[in-house]
Amino acid sequence: MRKQIAAANWKMNLTLGQGKQLMKDILSGELELNENREAVFAVPFPYLAEINTMTAGQKNCYTAAQNCSAEKSGAYTGEVSAEMLSSLNIPYVIIGHSERREYYGETDAILAQKINMALDNKLKPIFCCGEPLAVREKEMQNAHIESQLRAGLFHLVNVQIENFVIAYEPIWAIGTGRTASSEQAQEMHAHIRKVLTDQYGPEIANSISILYGGSVKANNAKELFSSPDVDGGLVGGASLVAADFISIIRSLK
Ligand code: PGA
Repeated sequence: MRKQIAAANWKMNLTLGQGKQLMKDILSGELELNENREAVFAVPFPYLAEINTMTAGQKNCYTAAQNCSAEKSGAYTGEVSAEMLSSLNIPYVIIGHSERREYYGETDAILAQKINMALDNKLKPIFCCGEPLAVREKEMQNAHIESQLRAGLFHLVNVQIENFVIAYEPIWAIGTGRTASSEQAQEMHAHIRKVLTDQYGPEIANSISILYGGSVKANNAKELFSSPDVDGGLVGGASLVAADFISIIRSLK
């Protein structure tokens, strides 16, 4: 059975003190995790070591970076390499979030390079894809997502893509309070799984967790996650409130 995952994305929020308090509050909740139901916390770079110590003490909880450099090492002031994350024993890294694509000019080619860096350093990528509103209005979203997957991932061979996590995050739903309906999410997740099946075969495609992101809240998580191809969520705003994120974790299948 593929993993069901509730992944928090703190983005550029919280001080270290606030973040540690939030983690304490969440980790002391009844999370009902097991080897098929995980919680992941994508936190800002300076907090990774401390938060990773907190999640390491809790079964089926993991820490993630929100990004990594496309370069291996060297004169890249301000960048953080995949190797550095690996040296902190960070298991996951988000790659290709729409905010990185949009505000920091991360192209498909750069993202493909980041994916390689992550895999070379044994990090599990959470690869994000998603269409803007204009694409959805033209009903071109399936082709848009397929092209993002092809450009970012399809240079990989079968063994590399095992254990991957993909997050479908329609840009029009991120931070807007406008969630995709569970039908829209299921339809796209099934499409993504079909594209993966065509490329890598059913066994691998069925092992990849596909998360939905975009205004996942405590009051809509259960319905969204109940669809057969929705394997949990990548959660921004609601992951900053302990009671809400606990409830979202408990909504996993
Ligand atoms: P949101 O963000 O839950 O605040 O919409 C989701 C994300 O960007 O990962």
